[in-house]
Amino acid sequence: MTLTAQELNTLSVKATDAKSTAYCPYSKFRVGACILTQKGEFITGANVENVSYPVGTCAERVAFGTAIVGGYKDFKALAVATDISPGASPCGMCRQFMREFTTPSFPVYMYGGDGNYVLKTMGELLPDSFGPEDLPKED
Ligand code: THU
Repeated sequence: MTLTAQELNTLSVKATDAKSTAYCPYSKFRVGACILTQKGEFITGANVENVSYPVGTCAERVAFGTAIVGGYKDFKALAVATDISPGASPCGMCRQFMREFTTPSFPVYMYGGDGNYVLKTMGELLPDSFGPEDLPKED
């Protein structure tokens, strides 16, 4: 479950680089995200805003949506990078979205503009969560 130093380094570089792909003309708040899969693949995302403000999408949901439609599964870690320090943590909607594809021990690295990070697990970010396994099984 633990990341190697090299995996964490690549994850942070890719999440930080992904900030440059953000479309955020309204907030000017750039967010980059990068997912590492258990196989060692990296999938990035960034926030994509909209003139109708609530329609905009966060970097985390862009990254996970991209990963899912790309056929990736079995995710190992996520890094989110912003320009503020300390870094931002995922919004409530993103936490539930990410919960669909992660376990409570899944690590989320939140990078600030100063390059430092705060590490929390999905279970810490979204305790007592409602997940796919909570729906009754169909027979
Ligand atoms: N945002 C993200 O993409 N991820 C976060 O974790 C926090 C907020 C975006 C949404 C919006 O485009 C901008 O940051 C300001 O809220």
